[in-house]
Amino acid sequence: MMALLQSSLAIALAAVFLGAGAVRASDVPYVPTPMNVVDAMLGLGAVGSDDYLIDLGSGDGRISIRAATRFGTQGMGVDLDDNLVGMARSDAQKQGVAGKVTFAARNLFDTDLSRATVITAYLLHSVNLRLRPMLFEQLKPGTRIVTHDFDFGDWQPDQKITIDVPDKAYGPPRSDIMLWVMPGNVAGIWQWSLPDGAGYEMRLEQKFQVPVGTVMMQRRPLRLGEMRIRGDAVSFTVTGEAGVQRYTGRIDGNSISGEVVLRSGERAQPWRAERVKSGKINISGI
Ligand SMILES: C[S@@+](CC[C@H](N)C(=O)[O-])C[C@H]1O[C@@H](n2cnc3c(N)ncnc32)[C@H](O)[C@@H]1O
Repeated sequence: MMALLQSSLAIALAAVFLGAGAVRASDVPYVPTPMNVVDAMLGLGAVGSDDYLIDLGSGDGRISIRAATRFGTQGMGVDLDDNLVGMARSDAQKQGVAGKVTFAARNLFDTDLSRATVITAYLLHSVNLRLRPMLFEQLKPGTRIVTHDFDFGDWQPDQKITIDVPDKAYGPPRSDIMLWVMPGNVAGIWQWSLPDGAGYEMRLEQKFQVPVGTVMMQRRPLRLGEMRIRGDAVSFTVTGEAGVQRYTGRIDGNSISGEVVLRSGERAQPWRAERVKSGKINISGI
């Protein structure tokens, strides 16, 4: 159903803009994001003054320019279309943010994304799917990715909102806005000991931001639950006969450091796990 809706949106989007005589040298025709959607995208991405925002396929530059004028956000936009890049540069100048945002006439697939703390995109589904491995390869854990209307296939968004867009150029008068937070990698085998001397081993596989796995204490299986990753933050519970342990921590390479509450009502105490075997995030599928 979702795929059908997206492909009809893609066809409608292309038809509207080819019909309007738009330049089509690129993977996606130029359709500007309405300003109320731009504001909602910046809100969902919690964009602020410390961010570096890259808009992929930046059109007239409105997303980067709005972030710079409202929040002082630095950033850049890339677009294949020279005319649009020229418009974006002159608007940035006019709005007094040319020192904060730059625009390059370049293919987004040839762009270094590693500096970004926020990525925005209003591209077609097929382009997003080509982009997905590049995002996982280049972006730091915690980088937010916000898209307008088109998703990343079976990489489920962490959040999604729908807002009314009365002047929408195609389809129903509303837009979907989606947020993904680039997950850290927890795949592999982790070990730790608690102060009572008990040794734990947790084995995890990870598909996109979703880890699944098992945990053992002194080779006895326990129940691993509520496993969650958001950027480099990880949390989970371990349940055994003695009750529920609640772990929170931050992934830093091959270690996770944080706190554990061993029994409900007890004080949290420090906890640290080491990865003894590394795994890869599975980003296959469509
Ligand atoms: C739907 S428009 C979005 C414009 C702007 N981001 C916005 O939301 O208002 C998509 C833009 O992507 C650009 N584009 C398409 N394929 C591209 C590519 N491979 N590299 C860079 N820009 C591309 C198009 O020229 C077009 O301006």
